[in-house]
Amino acid sequence: LQTAEQEIQEYFDAAVDIARKAGHVVFEAFHKEKNIDTKSCGTDLVTETDKYIEELIIRTLREKFPSHSFIGEESASAGKKSVFTNNPTWIIDPIDGTTNFVHRYPMVAICIGLAINKQMEVGIVFNPIKDQMFTARRGTGAFCNGKQIHCSSVTDLSKALVITELGSSRDPEIVNVVMSNLRRLAEKPIAVHSIRLQGSAALNMCSVASGEAELYYECGIHVWDIAAAGIIVEEAGGVTLDPSGKPLDLLARRILAAGNKELADQVSQYLDCIDLPRD
Ligand code: IPD
Ligand code: CA
Ligand code: CA
Ligand code: CA
Repeated sequence: LQTAEQEIQEYFDAAVDIARKAGHVVFEAFHKEKNIDTKSCGTDLVTETDKYIEELIIRTLREKFPSHSFIGEESASAGKKSVFTNNPTWIIDPIDGTTNFVHRYPMVAICIGLAINKQMEVGIVFNPIKDQMFTARRGTGAFCNGKQIHCSSVTDLSKALVITELGSSRDPEIVNVVMSNLRRLAEKPIAVHSIRLQGSAALNMCSVASGEAELYYECGIHVWDIAAAGIIVEEAGGVTLDPSGKPLDLLARRILAAGNKELADQVSQYLDCIDLPRD
């Protein structure tokens, strides 16, 4: 009989293994011509590689762990309702940064997270273009290519490098809120060091986990964008919250990831979010 720890190790190893295999496929496809489709609007892109990778990951993990549940972006887009229960549930984003993938901008990641009793236990975020494998298991720290990573200890918002995103919606009301948040952070009295938009929610969170940036926030994300990367931030010593400063609700479509609680509390006073339908 396996201990719980051995079981988690087995899940972790399986996730790293399939992330690497999927990474080969993404790497091979990266510089080739792509078959591009749109989903909710003209700026919400998907390629045949996104669909192929998700299918590959779910098929592989289901063969190993037939009793487990699965939530994936492209399955959800194809109409499969995301059900999040206490059952071990794999949460998968086959390519985070599809727009980057289409444009050959090298910030793309395969995200595989495992929740048990609705708590994240394992998180894998792999950028196959830069060959960066970010990993975390609850209680054991966060790593990039096997080297432990830590969040920034900067607590002063005016000294922060902030990451956010435009997102894929061009609804004027949503774009307005994005811009007014940006403006508030850019202008005095806050005047952050600078603001970055990298095009991958998960890699933004890995930047926070690595201490490259102090914080990341976005409204409009989905559970598959933040599940795997969230535990990486926490295990690197950071916090994941709702942008209002309240506890994070994985399905509520919004995230604030910061190097520390002090910084998160400062920025949350300035951030607005539009309520979106839950995952
Ligand atoms: C998107 C990226 C992007 C973020 C969007 C996500 P996708 O994921 O993470 O940075 O702004 O909110 O939907 O569609 O490339 O997997
Ligand atoms: Ca995504
Ligand atoms: Ca995706
Ligand atoms: Ca997408």
